[in-house]
Amino acid sequence: MKKKIIFECSDCGAKTPRWAGRCSNCGAWNTLLETVEESQSVIKKERISNSSTPQKLSEIETKSDHRIKTDIAEFDRVLGGGIMPGSLILVGGDPGIGKSTLLLQTCGRLKSNSALYISGEESLKQIKHRAMRMKDINEDLLLIAENNLENIIPHIKASECEIIVIDSIQSVYTDKIDASPGSISQVRECTAELMNVAKHSGKSIFIVGHVTKDGFIAGPKVLEHTVDTVLQFEGEKNYSFRILRALKNRFGSTNEIGIFEMRDDGLHEVLNPSEVFLSSSHVNEPGVAVVTTLEGSRPLLIEVQALVTSTSYGVPQRSSNGFDLRRLQMILAVLEKRLGMQFRQYDVFVNVAGGIYLNDPSVDLGIAAAIVSSFKDSPLDRSRVLIGEIGLTGEVRPVARIEQRLKESEKLGFSSAVIPKQNYDKLISKYDFQIEWVDRISLALSKILLNS
Ligand code: TYD
Ligand code: MG
Repeated sequence: MKKKIIFECSDCGAKTPRWAGRCSNCGAWNTLLETVEESQSVIKKERISNSSTPQKLSEIETKSDHRIKTDIAEFDRVLGGGIMPGSLILVGGDPGIGKSTLLLQTCGRLKSNSALYISGEESLKQIKHRAMRMKDINEDLLLIAENNLENIIPHIKASECEIIVIDSIQSVYTDKIDASPGSISQVRECTAELMNVAKHSGKSIFIVGHVTKDGFIAGPKVLEHTVDTVLQFEGEKNYSFRILRALKNRFGSTNEIGIFEMRDDGLHEVLNPSEVFLSSSHVNEPGVAVVTTLEGSRPLLIEVQALVTSTSYGVPQRSSNGFDLRRLQMILAVLEKRLGMQFRQYDVFVNVAGGIYLNDPSVDLGIAAAIVSSFKDSPLDRSRVLIGEIGLTGEVRPVARIEQRLKESEKLGFSSAVIPKQNYDKLISKYDFQIEWVDRISLALSKILLNS
């Protein structure tokens, strides 16, 4: 059959007959790569194998509560209580964030003959080097350095191991397709093939995928709907903590996160995450407030900082790190309109400690308080937690899961909290620390600012 040359976008997989500088589907620049379009019938023929027969629901055997526990509790939590046998799990993240470290460490903690680590990126010597840095790695861990899927699959089938790691999907290729490794068609085909193997063999397969600069997992959406679970490993390179998040999970909730710290000897679980995001200083300084956020179902306490300074240029700057800029502008507008403060001649900067991104609207009150505190040069009480969403009319609105947030604050030794009135009225549990309610931003600030 005649082979046809086409151009395929390496980000979204769109195909076009002609090369262009920009993908007309996803808008990415310089991502169209020349490939040979395969005759689909070749692939299809091989895929149609033994046909299936209908079975009664009651007759289907399940081992539903059987999950393979790793020795890493944070990892099990994100997976929904352990690894589901026969599942295909994609672990995505920026290069260098620690995906290989996480999976090598997970495999290395399992008992002998339960994990097979297949690397297409590193040689066995390099993996050994990495493993030697970590503690408690099982010396019997089985490793293979291999890129060719046709060689990998027999290894998986022949192996006794229940857990297989492929690091990374972009380095693996199948001979069935004429494209280079890492191209969208290769990634898609290899993943589909591995899914088949996982489902038929009952083994759990982890595949590592690098994230492209736009934050998509390369071969992005194509992979996400093929696999059972998508885990994202994220964090700022300059900070040592990492968050493992489930973006999709057929066998568990996507609310859970696991927090790790990258140290010289590998990843460590962070059992008390709030401590990572709170600075150890106890001096009350203007512009610093403590807020709560929910990461999945976990409450975290986080320090936010604001700085309000006279603007040196014509247009005042608004800059925000770890918080939505438009939300910051909204809070400033509410403060201007409802409290009569004027920020027209001031630059406003907001920064969230620890490099985390705050999406939770309950941090509004803390951000507003930090801004006003810096503006008035009047410190806030650092032992007090501020919780509340701000509405456009200047009202302080209730937030979700208030009891959990208060419990976490109490546990960490804070002496008081300011919470929305509607939440206060519905509190059930008793707390050992002082709780004050507010219903309007004006009332809130008069209660919160120390010297006013
Ligand atoms: P790696 O797992 O290779 O990242 P990925 O597979 O996501 O590309 O992580 C590499 C980084 O982790 C590298 O910058 C070095 C650092 N690192 C540690 O800090 N401690 C360790 O014990 C290990 C193995 C790596
Ligand atoms: Mg790696």
